[in-house]
Amino acid sequence: MRGLIDISELTIEEIEALMNTAEDIIENPQKYSESCKGKKLATLFFEPSTRTRLSFEAAMHELGGSVIGFSDGSNSSAVKGESIADTARVVGCYADIIAMRHFIEGAPFVADRNCVVPVINAGDGGHNHPTQTLADLLTIRRKKGDFSHLTVGFCGDLKYGRTVHSLCTALSRYKGVKFVFIAPKELRIPSYLVYEVLEKNGIEYVECDNLEEAMPTLDILYMTRVQGERFEDKAEYERLKDSYILTAEKLANAKSDMIVMHPLPRVNEISVEVDYDSRACYFKQVLNGKYMRMALILKLLSEAKQGISADAVRPKPISDDADGKHICQNPKCITHTEQELPQAFKCVDKSKNILRCKYCEARVK
Ligand code: CP
Repeated sequence: MRGLIDISELTIEEIEALMNTAEDIIENPQKYSESCKGKKLATLFFEPSTRTRLSFEAAMHELGGSVIGFSDGSNSSAVKGESIADTARVVGCYADIIAMRHFIEGAPFVADRNCVVPVINAGDGGHNHPTQTLADLLTIRRKKGDFSHLTVGFCGDLKYGRTVHSLCTALSRYKGVKFVFIAPKELRIPSYLVYEVLEKNGIEYVECDNLEEAMPTLDILYMTRVQGERFEDKAEYERLKDSYILTAEKLANAKSDMIVMHPLPRVNEISVEVDYDSRACYFKQVLNGKYMRMALILKLLSEAKQGISADAVRPKPISDDADGKHICQNPKCITHTEQELPQAFKCVDKSKNILRCKYCEARVK
C-alpha cells in the first residue's frame, strides 16, 4: 500500500493537488469533518516530537477519525526486542494508516514494506522528513505564490537536518531555484544531495559559512537547529551549537520580502525578537503542517481504499542490487539493527558505478 517515505515519491502535480486540498480544508473545514469517520491513524513515535505527532493527531481528529499509538518507543514491545517489521505488521492489523518517527534511518521504509496499510515517514534519524516538507511548501506558496526562481538559503546543521534534505530535494524540481548552503564545514550538506540532486540536475548552488554575506541575496532563509542528539562527540556539539544566531540586526540586510523559516523546535538560533518581524514564518509552518497532513491522510486513505487486498499482510520484497560484497557502513542505518534484513542498494550513477543503500542513502561504493 502506498505510503510516503521520501518526498520524491510525490510528483510535482501530486504536491500541487495536496496544497490545493489543504487550502480547501482551510476555507471549508466543515466539509472535511467526517471524511475519515471510522478510520484510525496510528502514531508510532520512537523519538521525541511536539509538532509532527500532535499535528498528525489533530489532523485525524479534525477529519473525524480516531488515533491510537505511542509517543515513546520505550513503552512499546520494541524494548523486548520486537523488530520494526513485526511492529508495523502488527499495527497494520489495528489501524488504517501509520505515521512513524524513528531515530534509526530507514525504519519507516522497512515498516512500509512489511505492512498492509500506508506508512508515513514522520522523520527517520538525520535522513528525511517528507511531511515537514509539505508544511514548508505550502508556507512558501502562500507567501511567494510559486516556487520558481527563488534563492533559498539553508543555514545551520545541514548534515543532520533531515528537513533540509527533504525540502532541498523537493525544491530542486522547480525551475530556476538556486540554493545557498550556509554551514560550518563539519555540518555541510550531505554529498548525495550535492552530486545526485544538485549537480546531476544542473542546479545552481553555493556553499559558504557566512550568514551575513549571504543574507541580501536570499528570498528564503531556512534556519535549522544544530541537532545535539545526532552527535557522537558531545564536545563537538558544544563547539558548533552556537554557529549561527539570527537577530533583528542581521535581518536588517535582508530583502524586505525575504521570509524566515524554521521547522522548529528552535533552541537559540533565532532570537525571540525576530518573532515580531513580519518576515518570520515559522509558526505559520506549524499550522500549515496540520492542513497538509490532513490532505495527505485523505489522499493515502483514498488510494488505499481503491487498492487494498486482503492477503497483503505478507511482506513486500525489497528489490536490491546487492552483490554480496558490500554492506552499508552507516551505523545509524536500519540494516545494522533489524533481524535478517537484506542489504539493498540502488545504483545512482551507472557511469561512476555509485551504489547507495536503499534504506538510508549512505554511499556504499
Ligand atoms: N518540525 C518537527 O519535526 O518538530 P517536532 O520534532 O516537534 O515534531
